[in-house]
Amino acid sequence: MRPIRIALTKGRLEKETIKIFDKMQLDTSELKNKGRRLILPLSGYEAVLAKAADVITYIEHGVCDIGIVGKDTILEYPGSFYEMLDLNIGKCVFALAGPKGFDFYSGYSVKTVATKYPNVARAFFEQKGMDVKIIKIEGSVELAPLLNLSEGIVDLVETGNTLRENGLEIIETITPISARVIVNVASLKLRKTEIENFISQMEKAI
Ligand code: PRP
Repeated sequence: MRPIRIALTKGRLEKETIKIFDKMQLDTSELKNKGRRLILPLSGYEAVLAKAADVITYIEHGVCDIGIVGKDTILEYPGSFYEMLDLNIGKCVFALAGPKGFDFYSGYSVKTVATKYPNVARAFFEQKGMDVKIIKIEGSVELAPLLNLSEGIVDLVETGNTLRENGLEIIETITPISARVIVNVASLKLRKTEIENFISQMEKAI
């Protein structure tokens, strides 16, 4: 049987996840010196480094057993897997933001909102019964209102620096976000002891 595979989100969450692995007394030396390698040994486990949305894809297909991914990605790409644990790292909020002082909710014209998270944005405005036009942007969404492409953005806000430094402000917060541990449905049945053991160790380390 192959080792239990753990899919990690590359980038912002990576360092904080490795800190948790260190507290679990796993050998993270290969992960810390990965170079361009994408699959790294981790004390008898295998760590796989992937983009957030791909972590969900690998977990759903069962090629990785345990995934570490932001709640933002889970909300945008809901799928069939178990969400087991809140790691309390990568904390930020989803928010609707716009140019400082702009009254987003006034007037009857249909507003345009730019976002990397069209499903999250659509659900937010649907629940308000508000008709908006949503434009998908791949990154630095704050550019869209600055270029007059949109009146608002739906995006993650952590320190608020990006908004502030670009003359934008939060209009409304949508929901708090943090990193979660997800597990493939079949893996949890077939390799229950190994997976529960790993997750309970993680729980103790946070
Ligand atoms: C995220 C997010 C905001 C910024 C918020 O982007 O989309 O732009 O961080 O953080 P702050 O409130 O601390 O300024 P990221 O840097 O991950 O890059 P991206 O926009 O290219 O996805």
